[in-house]
Amino acid sequence: MSILVLGGAGYIGSHTVYALCEQGRDVVVIDNLATGHIESVHPKAKFYKGDIGDKEFLNDVFKKENIEAAIHFAAFSLVGESVEKPLKYYENNLSKTRVLLEAMVENNIDKIVFSSTAATYGEPERVPIMESDRTEPTNPYGETKLAMEKMFKWTGKAHGLRYVSLRYFNACGAYKDGNIGEDHNPESHLIPLILQVPNGKREFISIFGNDYPTSDGTCIRDYIHVSDLAQAHILALEYLEKGGESDIFNLGNGVGFSVREVIETARKVTGHPIPAKETARRAGDPAQLIASSEKAKTVLGWKPCHDSLEEIISSAWNWHKNHPDGF
Ligand code: UFG
Repeated sequence: MSILVLGGAGYIGSHTVYALCEQGRDVVVIDNLATGHIESVHPKAKFYKGDIGDKEFLNDVFKKENIEAAIHFAAFSLVGESVEKPLKYYENNLSKTRVLLEAMVENNIDKIVFSSTAATYGEPERVPIMESDRTEPTNPYGETKLAMEKMFKWTGKAHGLRYVSLRYFNACGAYKDGNIGEDHNPESHLIPLILQVPNGKREFISIFGNDYPTSDGTCIRDYIHVSDLAQAHILALEYLEKGGESDIFNLGNGVGFSVREVIETARKVTGHPIPAKETARRAGDPAQLIASSEKAKTVLGWKPCHDSLEEIISSAWNWHKNHPDGF
């Protein structure tokens, strides 16, 4: 039987497809290529171009393929854009996932692993953040992901579907051979933006805010390697296959690095001076986001392997320096 990966041409989706194919699993990818890249789809995966909001298309794929479970990455993920265009996020993330769930229920596919986010927490009550902490998103992106989690919960209760929701902190890094990696347009994430400087695409990196209540005044984040995230999806899938109950897990290294520390490490890795300019805060950025991933470690047996920031940035640099224009 096959694993269906929705959004398998995106950043985290494509890395998960690589990990599944390496394991010898049969993989079917659906992606509308709105933000994904066909070049990032593993050659062994079967690819269908289409939209998860198109039920006829989904039913057709479900008829042709013998799907055991789904892993769902197909969503928009730009925080700033979600504030400007909330309905675009409700439509794409929430409404289309409703169609996907309808099709799954009708076709008796009862397991789904879901790509969620630390943005479901909003401004944290405390760090490290636990899964049981308050969820009060500060933007429509986080709201739609939280609403999707709730849609899984209630669909599960009514129709017997089981889900695992994985709340990632700051995904980064690239696949070990450097052939697939992060390629967003527009790019808004810190590490790829920093690496645009040594790549000659940007003159300096902006530091958004220097007056946060942190050790050096800049925001602290928990950077987690995309291959460790991919591994967590496989473990979540195996957990559901063994009959595990629906649940939610944080995924992070449990260690925070400030914006200045990330820039300094990138200077070390690339050997480039990477000039930085301090600018105003970016609206909606919490001072610190650090995960407690104890639950994923205990219940899923997850063990992130890439916990050094230097290793993470080296792996990202290995991708970006060889693909300065992305795919
Ligand atoms: N930053 C800069 N300069 C830049 C870009 C970012 O200083 O040019 C700072 C940000 O202010 C933030 C940190 O670097 O403090 C990390 O920013 P990213 O945009 O890379 O990541 P975020 O922490 O904002 O976003 C991540 C995920 C989102 C998720 C969010 C939850 O990428 O999907 O955490 O708050 F929604």
